Amino acid sequence: MPLLTDLSDIFGDAFAKAGVDASHGAVVTSQRPDLAQFQCNGALGAAKQAGRNPRELAEAVLEAISDREPFKELSIAGPGFINIDLTDKYLAAQVRSVQADDRHGVPAPEKKSVIVDYGGPNVAKELHVGHLRPAIIGESVKRIFRFAGHDVAGDVHLGDWGLPMGQLIAEMKHRDPDLVYFDPDHTGPYPQESPVDVAHLNEMYPVAAAAATEDPERKSEAQQATAELQAGRPGYRALWEHFRRVSIEAMREVYDTLGVHFELWNGEASVHDRIEPMVARLRANGVAVESDGALVIVVDDPDENREIPPLMLVNSRGAFTYGTSDLATVEERVVDAKADEVIYVVDARQGLHFEQIFRAARKSGIAPQSVILEHAPNGTVNGPGGTPLKTREGNLPLLRDLINDATAAAADRLAENDLASEYDEIERADIASKVGMAALKYGDLQNHRSSDYIFDLDRFSAFEGKTGPYLLYGAVRMKSILREAADRGLQLGTVLPPKVDQSRNLMLALLRFPDVFDRALRHRAPNHLAEYGYELVAEFSRFYEACHILRERDPARQASWLSMVELTLATLGTVLELLGIESPERM
Ligand code: ARG
Repeated sequence: MPLLTDLSDIFGDAFAKAGVDASHGAVVTSQRPDLAQFQCNGALGAAKQAGRNPRELAEAVLEAISDREPFKELSIAGPGFINIDLTDKYLAAQVRSVQADDRHGVPAPEKKSVIVDYGGPNVAKELHVGHLRPAIIGESVKRIFRFAGHDVAGDVHLGDWGLPMGQLIAEMKHRDPDLVYFDPDHTGPYPQESPVDVAHLNEMYPVAAAAATEDPERKSEAQQATAELQAGRPGYRALWEHFRRVSIEAMREVYDTLGVHFELWNGEASVHDRIEPMVARLRANGVAVESDGALVIVVDDPDENREIPPLMLVNSRGAFTYGTSDLATVEERVVDAKADEVIYVVDARQGLHFEQIFRAARKSGIAPQSVILEHAPNGTVNGPGGTPLKTREGNLPLLRDLINDATAAAADRLAENDLASEYDEIERADIASKVGMAALKYGDLQNHRSSDYIFDLDRFSAFEGKTGPYLLYGAVRMKSILREAADRGLQLGTVLPPKVDQSRNLMLALLRFPDVFDRALRHRAPNHLAEYGYELVAEFSRFYEACHILRERDPARQASWLSMVELTLATLGTVLELLGIESPERM
């Protein structure tokens, strides 16, 4: 059982014996570690509710504590705060029990089926800075749910079905009208080989979009092509398959480098066949209504002073929208995939869109109340001026360029610090890449997902301070201590009660993991783990400075310390894994 739960149970019993509800007994990590290790602040609220004196109630609680063994000191501070210090013996026993548990003390939940929708790139468009946060936050959120014990799948949810696809087909036809895909008499099969590569596709995309906005004739061609594609014209479908496959291949490469992996490569097109029956049903049962030539679901609540526009299912041109496909996707996830929770890690600017989708899903009965639908919005990556990051030319920086910049910055920092210098080139490049990705990802994940942050590779790639490289350096140092110990034939042994503050503090830090994890899970917020990873490494450094592990004369003490190194490394390893950060063996 996690330490805080254990302590809260003891205090809960005591509160109950003192005549108030056990829920007031919650024990938390102390805000003032200089005064106490833990605190329980429940007496104040409980006393207020019961009309009693808080200090007297706190005294009654302390008297009622039956199991005193864990406590070195219990005292009352101020108007009724209870300060708690644990005995060293109890602490060591707690550490030993966590050590025996590969979940580091995190209890198993009631298993749920969860889908995390993140990534959201569009076919034929290169991944850019706007895709960075959904990708790495979403990946981390997914890993957090998985570690908690849920069944979870990440879905990239490609934008692969709207007008841009028709624009591309129309543009292609202008460039190469003789291609077999445009021959209405051709009965197939179509070539296996794509007529375009990804560079070609990326070049075509903006040209196609511009042509269709500037020229009314091109616009109607694009609309026509979209409609025919969606209606299933074989040549267009075949061409579209090529676009999709070629794009996915290119995206996958970038996502792989970032350590971002999707279980599902579904997209808007995946739910195409559901849309018509869904819309017909919603029309028939009156959930969807006509409005100015369009079909909509009214989602605002007259009792609210916030106005929410209706969700458009069919626009006045008769086309389905982004919203229609998201609603059908909810249906697919709830009905077919039997999801209990769907978490959307998508840009905060799409907040209204998801509000509409979720309300429409409830109103139509597509998602019962028992299913959690949640938008976990992400903020923006800003440049030094605090406005969205742009290249010198004013474009959105490409993700692969950011990745290359981060790797180059990491290589520079490694050289400056004379790290990895004597390894061969292949290993050096691998280390630079891992340090670079740690810099990029930690620089992002250390911020709460919904806040914006300033992109600063100089800061992110430093080996000092709250950075990814600092965490990796810590992990590598732990690995090297354990390697050296193994080389000398030293054994790991039973964790003993701590004798010095640095060792005690490291134990306290290790025991905090379940609580931090719980917060990250509940708030879908990896930054809690990012912060904790930093604190753990900092605490370890202080411990390592104070306790000269490899020079220790007392073999039992040395073996105990080595076990703590191992547990710290395992815990940090889990934190890095949850953040999606890979660490090298050495540097
Ligand atoms: N493709 C969309 C865009 O580029 C993002 C998709 C987000 N996910 C979703 N289920 N709508 O804006």
